[in-house]
Amino acid sequence: MSHSASVRPTRRRLLAGATAAAAATTLHAPFVRAQPAKLKVGLMLPSTGTFAALGSAITNGFRMAVEERGGKLAGREIEYFAVDDESNPAKAPENTNRLVQRDKVDVLIGTVHSGVALGMAKIARETGTLLLIPNAGADDVTGPMCAPNVFRTSFSNWQPVHPIGKVMAERGHKTAVWISWKYAAGDESFRSFKEGFEKAGGKVVKELGLPFPNVEFQPLLSEIASLRPDAVACFFAGAGAAKFISDYAAAGLRDKIPLYGSGFLTDGVLQAVQQQAQGLMTTLHYADALPIQRDREFRLAYAKAFKLQPDVYAVQGYDTGLLLAQAMDAVKGDFGNKQALIKAMEGAKIDSPRGTWTMSKAHNPIQDIYLRRVEGESNKYVSVAWKALADPARGCRMG
Ligand code: BEZ
Repeated sequence: MSHSASVRPTRRRLLAGATAAAAATTLHAPFVRAQPAKLKVGLMLPSTGTFAALGSAITNGFRMAVEERGGKLAGREIEYFAVDDESNPAKAPENTNRLVQRDKVDVLIGTVHSGVALGMAKIARETGTLLLIPNAGADDVTGPMCAPNVFRTSFSNWQPVHPIGKVMAERGHKTAVWISWKYAAGDESFRSFKEGFEKAGGKVVKELGLPFPNVEFQPLLSEIASLRPDAVACFFAGAGAAKFISDYAAAGLRDKIPLYGSGFLTDGVLQAVQQQAQGLMTTLHYADALPIQRDREFRLAYAKAFKLQPDVYAVQGYDTGLLLAQAMDAVKGDFGNKQALIKAMEGAKIDSPRGTWTMSKAHNPIQDIYLRRVEGESNKYVSVAWKALADPARGCRMG
C-alpha cells in the first residue's frame, strides 16, 4: 500500500464513515428533527429611480410581518432574493426570469410600477409561480389577465382615485383638468377619475400628460394656467410627485386652482414638500391618524424598527406578509399544496393597519377609501370617502 493510498480515503471508506457518523448522530441526538426547507421569496422592486423609496418601504413592511413571526412562516425560514427592477417595463421579462428561472423562488413579490407588473403577471401565468403584487395597480392584472396564482394586496388603479371626483363636485368644482404620467397607472387613474367626476356632475375639460418618469412640468402648468379650470386632479407618486407639488406651488397655481388627486401624490413625500402641500386633499386606502388601534400599534412598531414613519407602501408590504403568513399557516407550511394555499388566500380576511379588508373574486382588495387632508407632515384622516370599495374587475372570468 503506498503512503498516499493509506491517507486518501477510498469511496468505500467514505461511505462507511458517513454511515457510522449517521448512526452516531441517531444514537446521540435522537431529538434532532430535519429542518423544513427554506421558503424562497423573490422581491422584485425598484431600489433606484423615482420609485426607490416606495420599494424600500414595501420591503420594510414585508420583513416586519415576517419578523413578527420570529423570521419564519409556518415554521419555515425565509431565504430572500432581490432584484432592482428600476421601474423599467422593458427589463421586466429578464428581471422576472432571474428570480423564477435562475433562483427558482417559490413566491414572487413585486412590484411598484404598473408596466413592470404586467410583464411579471404574464410570466407568472405562464409558469404558475405564485405572484403577490404589493403596489402596482394595473387594472388588467385583476381584470382580463386575472389568474388563480396572481393576487394583489394593494389596489387597482381604478380604486383610490374613483371617490375624489365626488368630493370635488361636492366642494363646488364644475370643471377639472387631469394631469399625469402617460402609462397604465396614469391612464387608468384618469378613466376612473373621469367616470367618478362626471357621474357627480363635473366635466373634465382636458387631459394632460408626459412620459414616465419625466418631471418637466412647466409647459403643462402654463397650459393649466391658461385653461383656468375650477380644479386640477392628478396621479403622480414618489420623487416625481414631490417635484410636481413643488412646481405647482412655484407656478403660482396653489392658491388659484385647487389641486386634488389619488393619495400617492402626498404619501411618503411630505418631509420634502411639507409647506407647499398644506391643505391638499386626496383619497387613498390609507391615512395618517386613522381611528384604528391596529394602525396605532403598527405605526409605533414600524417607527421603532426603521426610525421612519410608515406610509401606504409600508402598509401594503406588511399586508403582503400577513397574507402569505395566513396562507402558510393554513397549509401548515406545505407550500406544495397549491390548491389549499390559493383557497386560503381567496378567503383571507386581513386585519390590516388600513382597516380590515377581504379579497375579491378577481384577487384584489375590497377596502375602505379615505379622504385625507395634508396637515403638517401628515395625510390626516378626514372621513371614509367610500366604504368597502371593490374594483369592477372588468374582463376577469374567475369566480
Ligand atoms: C403604478 O404604476 O401602478 C403605481 C406606481 C406608484 C404608485 C401607485 C401606482
